[in-house]
Amino acid sequence: MGRLEGYSTIITGGASGMGRSTAELWLEEGANVVVADLNEQNGNDLVDEMNSKGFQGRIKFVRTDVSCEADIVRVVEAATVAYGKLDVMFNNAGIDGAFGPITEIEADHWDQTFAVTAKGVFLGIKHAARVMKKQEWGGSIINTGSLGSQTAGGGPLVYSSAKAAVLRLTQSAAFELGKWRIRVNAILPGIIYTPLMHRGKPERADVVSRSVQPLPFRGEGKHIAHAALFLASNESEFVSGEYLRVDGGLFAVGPLSHTPMVSPSSKRAGMNFGLTGMEGTMRELVPEQVPTRDD
Ligand SMILES: NC(=O)c1ccc[n+]([C@@H]2O[C@H](COP(=O)([O-])OP(=O)(O)OC[C@H]3O[C@@H](n4cnc5c(N)ncnc54)[C@H](O)[C@@H]3O)[C@@H](O)[C@H]2O)c1
Repeated sequence: MGRLEGYSTIITGGASGMGRSTAELWLEEGANVVVADLNEQNGNDLVDEMNSKGFQGRIKFVRTDVSCEADIVRVVEAATVAYGKLDVMFNNAGIDGAFGPITEIEADHWDQTFAVTAKGVFLGIKHAARVMKKQEWGGSIINTGSLGSQTAGGGPLVYSSAKAAVLRLTQSAAFELGKWRIRVNAILPGIIYTPLMHRGKPERADVVSRSVQPLPFRGEGKHIAHAALFLASNESEFVSGEYLRVDGGLFAVGPLSHTPMVSPSSKRAGMNFGLTGMEGTMRELVPEQVPTRDD
């Protein structure tokens, strides 16, 4: 008997990376899974693959833009119609978003990054909670934050700010929704070897695991999937408003832990839409636009 036997779950950003690893694990643990993602090709491929492994009827893909309220309403409805309830909402979709020094970041790129990273989580909590409040057993909401939300340098500036918003949203929603037995928690990944992280360059993850990260091996999607399994299942029934770091001990290292990740003197600026399939808008900066230590 799996730990999520008969659960109805939604995983946003479930077509790639740690969301995909979570979908695979939760299926093995008995859950029904709706994958909500912008990337249709990856979503449909995952469903085909899982069907061929014997999970027919237990996984669906719904093309979803998490920053669009109508899409979130639609995917929550898809799960409740298909599986009769909603036990777990994993708000995990994400992009790097705006890059570059603060003096070169466009206001529109700030909005687009926040729309996916922070508003997307708000919408997921809002519409999952509307269903879960009517269930006497409540439900579990899990949000993907980032180690970058806790210190500077762990991610691009706007991304880190939006992930910080996710943390406060997690606590505030846990406070408000607790009386309906709805638990709201966040997972804070460190450096996890996913397409978003390595962008085709595996050595990006290895630099960290071979140097500053205390545990001497790569973070993988499965490590996040297992943490999410704990937060989804009844084993964590008394855990709410919590941030669970899954980072190979990186945060414990302190300020030095982030040195190799993001440089404030980046020579490029613009939007990166990660694995969505949308074209980014990166541009090279001229030397005067690149801050140095002497500025
Ligand atoms: N990989 C890491 O090292 C790392 C570290 C900290 C936090 N995170 C966070 O973990 C989460 C998952 O990232 P990942 O590394 O698995 O990346 P990934 O790119 O492999 O997967 C992210 C998925 O989210 C989807 N997505 C993006 N924007 C969307 C939108 N508007 N609507 C619906 N789907 C959308 C993408 O299409 C993709 O399938 C993200 O929130 C990311 O910010 C990742």
